[in-house]
Order: sequence, then C-alpha cells, then structure tokens
Amino acid sequence: MQTELCKQLGVEAPVFAFTHCRDVVVEVSRAGGIGVLGAVGFSVDQLKEELDWIDAHIGDHIYGVDTAIPQKYEGMDSSTPEELVAMIEAAIPQRHRDFAARLMSDAGVPEWPDKNDPVSLSFSVQQAQALVDEALTRPKCRMIVNALGTPPAEIVQQVHDSGRLIGALAGRLKHGIAHKEAGLDFIVCQGSEGGGHAGEVTSMVLWPQMVDAVAPLPVLAAGGIANGRQMLAAMSMGVQGVWMGSRWLISTEAQAEPAQRESYKSASSEDTVRSRSFTGKTARMLKNEWTEAWERDDTPDPLPMPLQGYLTFDAVRRTHRYAGVGDCQKVAFNPVGQVVGQMNSEQSCRDIMFQLLTEYADALESVNALSLQE
Ligand SMILES: Cc1cc2nc3c(=O)[nH]c(=O)nc-3n(C[C@H](O)[C@H](O)[C@H](O)COP(=O)(O)O)c2cc1C
Repeated sequence: MQTELCKQLGVEAPVFAFTHCRDVVVEVSRAGGIGVLGAVGFSVDQLKEELDWIDAHIGDHIYGVDTAIPQKYEGMDSSTPEELVAMIEAAIPQRHRDFAARLMSDAGVPEWPDKNDPVSLSFSVQQAQALVDEALTRPKCRMIVNALGTPPAEIVQQVHDSGRLIGALAGRLKHGIAHKEAGLDFIVCQGSEGGGHAGEVTSMVLWPQMVDAVAPLPVLAAGGIANGRQMLAAMSMGVQGVWMGSRWLISTEAQAEPAQRESYKSASSEDTVRSRSFTGKTARMLKNEWTEAWERDDTPDPLPMPLQGYLTFDAVRRTHRYAGVGDCQKVAFNPVGQVVGQMNSEQSCRDIMFQLLTEYADALESVNALSLQE
C-alpha cells in the first residue's frame, strides 16, 4: 500500500513513527514503515551516538530526524547557542525555580546525581542547526521534519541540496499554508487529540481541510491514530500516510520505566490535558498534580518557550529516571495523546505494525462490503 510519498522515500507502508527511542526507529523501519527520531532532547554528541547505533542496526532501511524550531521564541536574537543559554538562565525567576523544586521534593523524587550534567534542549534555530548538520551526514537519514514552525529558509535549502525531503508539523491551516509557501515537501497535520504540542482543532475536522488547502502537497495525518480503523479513517481523507507518536510509548522497545508505562496503560482518554507547564507551549500530556499546580491562581504561570523547558528540564529527567520512586507519577512529565485510553497492552513495534495494517485491511473490506449492499 505505497502512496506517492512512500514511493519517493522507498518505504513499503505509509506509517511514520515519531519517537525519542532509537530502538523504535529501527524496529518500525525494519517492519516496513519509517521511524523518525525526535532530536529535541539531545546534544549533538548524544545525537551522534544515537544515529551511530541506528545506522548500525537498521540494515538497508531508512529513517528521519525531527527537530523543533519554534516560529517565535524568547532569545531569537541571540547569535550563538551559548549566548542564548546565558539569556535563558538569567531570565528564569527564582520564584519559578523554587516552585518547581518544591513540587519535586514534596513528591519525594530523588535529585539528579550530577548537578553539572548540562541541559540538552534545542528549542531554537541556534541549537537545531547543529543537529540538522549531523543528521545530514547520515546517508540513511532521508528526511528532516520540524515541529513548532516553518523551518528557516537556509535549512530548507540545505536539506534540499542534500537530496532529502523536509516537512513540518502543523496544527492550524495557516501553518500548513506557510509551510507550503516555504517550499516544504510535505505537511504533518496534527489534530488536538494528539500527544505533545497540539492545537485546538480536532483531527477529523483539520485533516481534510489541510489536504485541500495545501494540495497537491502530501499530507500525513497525526493525532488520534493508534489502530487500523483510525488509520483507514485518516487515509480516506486523502492523506498519504499516518504519523503516530503515542502508540509506541508502551511498545516493548521503548525506553520507559515500568511505573511510567503503568501510568499510560491505566489512563483513560479523559486523563490528558493540554498544558504549558513543561515546555511553555501548549502540549498534551497526562493530567497530574504538576499540571494542576501550574494552573492555580496562587502559583507562578508557566514561562514562555524555551524558558519553561529549561526550568523543567531537571524535573523531566528526574521523573523519567525515578518514575517508580515516591509519588513521582503525581508530578511526572508523561506526554501522550487521547489514544492513551486504547493503549493497554505492551507489544513489539513489529506486532503493532502488523496489527495496524491487518486491522486497516479488515476495516477497508467491511467498508467496501457495505458500499456494495443494495
Ligand atoms: C511523548 C511525545 C513527545 C513528542 N515530542 C515531539 C517532538 O519533539 N517533536 C515533534 O515533532 N512531535 C512531537 N510529538 C508529537 C508527535 O510527533 C505526533 O505528532 C503525535 O504524537 C501524533 O499524535 P498521537 O499522539 O495521537 O499519535 C510528541 C508526541 C509524544 C506523544
């Protein structure tokens, strides 16, 4: 079931897997889809290590790398990554630092062992450029995708000059149109129900509008797809593939502590919230005491991106490493979409792919049978 975009990339199935885990990238690509590694939390050295591993394990298959360069962010005028980080550190109020630290200690989350471990976050063009440069040295990396805005013209040119494709996420029509005008090759259209940064309009409403608005540019459907019936619904709207993030979080290959997996497995679709409390921009995640604490009138408001991300970086890494300690899950960063209510069993990526495509084929057959009935 190759779409035009799949043919261009040489991929068998139109399944794009967003993940921060290298093992998921490899397994999905080996199972016929394409894994895309989210690089926002990696330093360049860490990304090198991840890509070395992927290159060594993925065989003849290909993959993508995802960056996050917001359209607007605090410190856009800084000329170097060092200048940006200094500006960010100076701009975070002590009241916010104390509040975040108290939430962590009240929940009994252990301190990070080495206070000197640097913050590796790249929510800026100054930092993302180095990640893109690294990704483009890898022949099996065939596409770059950007979140939170249209990538700068120089990066679009650089990716095209290297013979690769570049796309970007869009949660609003006007963002998809801006991506098209900037010369991108495809749009990942994410509805509100998706995990991570998400807008207000639901997938069912947004996807077909986006397909029409940016035609003939290929659109990938994201937000709310975790099974074959949802995939069929998306494909019926004229998209060229599905882009899934949440479903892989509890795959057997994903790197996640048992307590975090348990939080996902036991959550219903009503247990997520769109909150600015971790990154500074609205992102969908599991609701808990942390997300509620930042909403109260007597507490600090989340800072703009990338300040809030720098402020909470320590909390994020601690809640992931010590997921099962104390009341950690009450303050943990667990980004996920509303499909979390369907995520009850841990399967390998290969099994998830097989089940997805089998269910898709069965659902298509049912729909076809229906349309033939008198
Ligand atoms: C844990 C998590 C982290 C995410 N981080 C990013 C990111 O760094 N960059 C990005 O482009 N999208 C990110 N997303 C969004 C995904 O790329 C994808 O669009 C979304 O998960 C699709 O909706 P779904 O969660 O319903 O599958 C993230 C999603 C999740 C669940």
